[in-house]
Amino acid sequence: MQSKNILILGSGAREHAFAWKLKQSPKVKNIFVAPGNAGTDSIAQNINISINNFDSVKEVVIKNNIDLVLVGPEEPIVNGIVDYFEVDEILKNIPIIAPNKQGAKLEGSKSFAKNFMLKYNIPTAKYHVVTEQNIDEGISFLSSFAPPYVLKADGLAAGKGVLIINSKDDAINSLRDILEGKFGSSGKKVVIEQFLQGIEMSCFILTDSTNYLLLPEAKDYKRIGEGDTGLNTGGMGAVSPVPFVDDKLIKKINDLIIHRTIYGLKAEKINYKGFVFIGLMINDGEPYVIEYNVRMGDPETEVVLPRINNDFFDLLEATWNGTLNEQKINISEKTFVTIITASKGYPEHYEKGKIISGLNKVSESIVFHSGTLLKDGNVITNGGRVLAVSSQGNNIQNAVRNSLNTLQNIHFDGIYYRKDIGFEFE
Ligand code: AMP
Ligand code: GLY
Repeated sequence: MQSKNILILGSGAREHAFAWKLKQSPKVKNIFVAPGNAGTDSIAQNINISINNFDSVKEVVIKNNIDLVLVGPEEPIVNGIVDYFEVDEILKNIPIIAPNKQGAKLEGSKSFAKNFMLKYNIPTAKYHVVTEQNIDEGISFLSSFAPPYVLKADGLAAGKGVLIINSKDDAINSLRDILEGKFGSSGKKVVIEQFLQGIEMSCFILTDSTNYLLLPEAKDYKRIGEGDTGLNTGGMGAVSPVPFVDDKLIKKINDLIIHRTIYGLKAEKINYKGFVFIGLMINDGEPYVIEYNVRMGDPETEVVLPRINNDFFDLLEATWNGTLNEQKINISEKTFVTIITASKGYPEHYEKGKIISGLNKVSESIVFHSGTLLKDGNVITNGGRVLAVSSQGNNIQNAVRNSLNTLQNIHFDGIYYRKDIGFEFE
């Protein structure tokens, strides 16, 4: 029965979780992860290539008889890896799970995403798109409402392109700075948005362009410090399910956001086979879209995938075949929490190369590797975010306690993690 060879692109805990989940499928024979990390190395075969070099991805696909490619991070997607596959005589028949360049604009261009939401009547913050040519319009838009102001560089800016500013003068200065290149070419256009109040959460869908499955929702904790303080990070932990999410809210998210998003993609003739990650602000029970991502989230994947009981390969194959309507999602009632361990100094300067000990003592939790590397028989730190420790429980506190217990045994020089993931739900 085991026959399929899978290639996963990426090197984080999200990709380790993908490999972990696919390994459970009786249909999957070999899993390759490019470039991967020490965690993926222990359950799959790492291949050290640059995933933004599509010619090297092609070589790997051919050499290893790959039957399906799953793309983790946004960069190769936004750079057009799917379009590269589409026009290649050999690759065009190989399933690849990700949207093409046009679909990737939902994440790669904030102005495209906002215009899409406006066109398809998807609730989101009021906005105005500004370039050097219409900076005056930007300034009068800023004058039309009260602070705080949200400024976003249009293109990908590695999570750093969003500024939330409390005074109009500062906002005008920052607008000029971004247009003049503060975030490089990603800031040639700026989206100015009204600030939305509320509680953030994320939902995830897997779509074949016509049908979709709603995956478990999650909430991530982006700030470095306990109590949601300090600098923004890639994410310091996540929980799923999100306690305040009920059927009524899910129905609103489906009706007002997901249906309209799928309809809009169809109407724009965008062939989208992959994940849509929708960042939401819930205000007074009403959902608004903060952003789209065209991939799964990290650390959200590390709590979402453990709650999905389906064979993950079946879901991905059906996505490619356009038969997701024949799949029924089966979600565990259990709560999952993940706690990210980071290197001292993250998200600013941090050191790499610290030996990680205690990984062999883990039993209660699943440890997904993020920035790790195998060197001379040791697992060493190789990034700002190092490990994602995921645990289940009957509720959030219980699951957090399980991850914290596991973390008592894991050590590396300068290890840092938040002990308060899920704190607002206590
Ligand atoms: P983004 O990269 O668009 O997800 O923005 C990063 C973070 O900025 C989000 O997770 C929110 O916390 C915050 N944010 C973005 N847009 C808004 C908005 N319109 N109102 C309030 N907060 C926002
Ligand atoms: N956790 C947020 C992201 O993956 O973008």
